[in-house]
Amino acid sequence: MTPDSPSLTDTDPTPGPPPGCPAHGLGAGGPQRLYGPDAQDLGDLYERLRAQHGTVAPVLLHEDVPMWVVLGHAENLHLVRSPSLYTRDSRIWSPLADGTVKPDHPLMPHIAWQPICSHAEGDEHQRLRAAVTSAMATIDQRTLRRHIGRYTQGLVNSFCERGRADLVSQFAEHLPMAVMCEILGMPEEYNDRMVQAARDALKGTETAIQSHTYVMDALSRLTTRRRARPEDDFTSHLVTHPAGLSDDEVREHLRLVLFAAYEATANLLANALRMVLTEPGFRAQLSGGQMTVPEAIEQSLWDEPPFSTVFGYYAKQDTELGGQRIRKGDGLLFAPAPGNLDPRIRPDLSASMQGNRSHLAFGGGPHECPGQDIGRAIADVGVDALLMRLSDVQLDCPEEELHWRSSIASRHLVALPVRFEPKPQQDVNLPPRPVAVPAQRSTWQVGTPRAEQVPAAGPRPSTPPPAAAEPYPTAPRPARRRGVWRRLLDWWRGE
Ligand code: HEM
Repeated sequence: MTPDSPSLTDTDPTPGPPPGCPAHGLGAGGPQRLYGPDAQDLGDLYERLRAQHGTVAPVLLHEDVPMWVVLGHAENLHLVRSPSLYTRDSRIWSPLADGTVKPDHPLMPHIAWQPICSHAEGDEHQRLRAAVTSAMATIDQRTLRRHIGRYTQGLVNSFCERGRADLVSQFAEHLPMAVMCEILGMPEEYNDRMVQAARDALKGTETAIQSHTYVMDALSRLTTRRRARPEDDFTSHLVTHPAGLSDDEVREHLRLVLFAAYEATANLLANALRMVLTEPGFRAQLSGGQMTVPEAIEQSLWDEPPFSTVFGYYAKQDTELGGQRIRKGDGLLFAPAPGNLDPRIRPDLSASMQGNRSHLAFGGGPHECPGQDIGRAIADVGVDALLMRLSDVQLDCPEEELHWRSSIASRHLVALPVRFEPKPQQDVNLPPRPVAVPAQRSTWQVGTPRAEQVPAAGPRPSTPPPAAAEPYPTAPRPARRRGVWRRLLDWWRGE
């Protein structure tokens, strides 16, 4: 602990503006805003904060509400693994308790306490979480992977004949929703409207409340049906668990699981596919068999965790973290994005993290994500099957034209346009089969076409773009063929 480091909610008399004043310490050395013009690039801001403050930095949320952001890997782990010091129950957060944060604060949906396992602690947390994890444990992995494969096949069928697609809106945002509706026991609710409603509710647009109601109505109907007649699905196991969840608790946990799974897994799929399409090394290693799809997914979880930060953890007593004095009632952002880039564990960011799963993407401690195997399975099977079906897929715009929508909590790729040689549909109940692409495709580059190689708007050229600096690796053919068959067999066995 540094004796003179400021506390965020310090009420001691100190020179300068009073605590809580927006001008308090703003600028050099003081808390930085995580919103507005200064926070256009949060990744860059976190690195500046790291240089300035070390592993824990004071920041300001909307309306200049003070918070700490935890930037160090070890400090983030300490935060989530110390339930005696920090809780997820926001009702003890000083700015909320003293009325500084009003009910209409823009981040209230993230902050407001709710009767769900993410905000509970101790015995109540164990009661609610036990129901969720027991219901998850009843999901058969082999069946799960078959569902993922079947939905992936169906989604690829919907665009494979066109030779063009947006892998965010036509794939990454659909696959997790389809799989989650199946797991929860409402496959009939999966459609474009449900995907759009979930996306809308999370974006916080003007129609967010209406969209949220649409999703909640479906979950209420499901809860009522399963309460009356349980079947063998996640919702039925939640309803009948000895923890005795009320209908409200069942509905709220279905909402938590559906939204957490949808948003995080859609981000993971989009990030992993973007990485494969734009980083030549990845595609080459995957094709050459030096890297498996699960390893590529794990690298993406290190580099771009689907949740950049998690709101929030709150100090139960005065303590110290990363040299900062933390006061009882202070709020802290658990931050996987900067935590995963901590130079103490990753001095060289370009070095592969292959075989190392100690990233923070799924949190840790008592609240560690219980759905991580499901999220990983959706990403592994989905990306693998898509790449097998569209082996010649490539980005359909210059990489610089990709853009992201960012918030403090996450960073979404807006669109991932791709093109490929049109291909026939396949039976969704069979494993994906690679389709031979014309021989000249072997000259296609790995990664992004350079701006001058991107065809102007209009009909797609019948000949491929010229060979680029990084040719598609044709040399290690035997290894590649073995890789395909092994993946096919693994998929078929449900491994
Ligand atoms: C790539 C996909 C996913 C990522 C990156 C992810 C990440 C996270 C993170 C960071 C947390 C908070 C941990 C903390 O508070 O310390 C969390 C909690 C949670 N996640 Fe996930 N998640 C993913 C997929 C899923 C899926 C598929 C499900 C359900 C099937 C799920 C269900 C939950 C639940 C219920 C919690 C609350 C646990 C608790 O508070 O005890 N997640 N997840």
